[in-house]
Amino acid sequence: MRISFANDYSEGCLPEILENLSKTNFEQIGGYGLDLYSKSAIEKIGQLLGAGPDQVDVHFTAGGTQANLIVISHVLKPFAGVLSASEGHIATHESAAIEATGHKVIMLNADPYTGKLDAPTLATFLAEYWANPESEHSPFPGMIYFSNATEYGTHYSAQEISAIRDVADKYDIPIFIDGARLGTALAAEPEKLRFNQLIDLVDVFTIGGTKNGALSGEAIVFTNRKENYADRFRWTLKQRGGMLAKGRLLGIQFDTLFTDNLYFRAAQHANQMADLLRAGLKQRNVKFWTETKTNQLFILITPELKQLLLQEFIFLDWLIPSKQQLSELGIEESDQNYHVVRLVTSWATQSEWVDQFLDRWDDFANL
Ligand SMILES: Cc1ncc(COP(=O)(O)O)c(C=O)c1O
Repeated sequence: MRISFANDYSEGCLPEILENLSKTNFEQIGGYGLDLYSKSAIEKIGQLLGAGPDQVDVHFTAGGTQANLIVISHVLKPFAGVLSASEGHIATHESAAIEATGHKVIMLNADPYTGKLDAPTLATFLAEYWANPESEHSPFPGMIYFSNATEYGTHYSAQEISAIRDVADKYDIPIFIDGARLGTALAAEPEKLRFNQLIDLVDVFTIGGTKNGALSGEAIVFTNRKENYADRFRWTLKQRGGMLAKGRLLGIQFDTLFTDNLYFRAAQHANQMADLLRAGLKQRNVKFWTETKTNQLFILITPELKQLLLQEFIFLDWLIPSKQQLSELGIEESDQNYHVVRLVTSWATQSEWVDQFLDRWDDFANL
């Protein structure tokens, strides 16, 4: 069996989740997210956020794309679009799921290495948009979207999000953080963003379970910090097919994830395995596309070495850098070709797998 560093959803789920699904199997409980486990999970998430009674609205749905399209289509007015980095997940990897709900993804240039949206880029776009006397001829910027962690495994600090918040407040726009990989972003050192800071910084965010040890599922959290964007959300959730009759599947999983810090421990493990891999690769003078602190690593590798490693490990091709990009990354005029590949660790990655990968790297690199 080839060891996989392809993604963080190759394995089934955390044993605690499987155990609780099995333990509760014959219980007859209500459906559609109104069961006791969903309620308990919602309470735990609210407590961790430091939310007062009914301050946050929490809902569950099965997947990340589904969560994004349901949240965005619920919050936006019919004529509005959502602002995203051109590398953002909704802009690149969701088959126009947002556009299919009738809302344009308005792409803004982001740093091509980090994939991060920044406050000055947003401020410039919005200033120009509103300076245009004919602004109503192009989609209304109705929401700011970014994922944390990003497509490039980078993450946002509280300060960076706060700077985006200032711009959003100036133009009265809600912020939505796609947290499909929120766990690893929260576990990333340094500049740690604390979970409970999200309640003041953003209007809605998701807590990804699928990529952090759940069988599947995302929690959607409306913070109601200014406006009640969650109003009638259950109708949108139902209409767009995101409300599971067997809501217990999501409730039990999130209730388990938010017991004894399991969610945070799972993400920490993924990051620790990535740290091991990163340190080993750095010792071997491997170049990185971008510096990350989460469970995703993007490295430069020769096509020959890549092919050899692919015989024993699974990982993904990401891109082929241009000569200019190679030079920006410090690789000057080289006859050597490089590809960028993505290596991902997960809650289930074993340190022995990392050792094996590095050992084989040495074997093949020295051929
Ligand atoms: C940041 C982000 N958002 C959303 C998704 C989509 O999730 P799903 O594949 O569960 O639809 C992904 C999946 O890779 C993701 O990385």
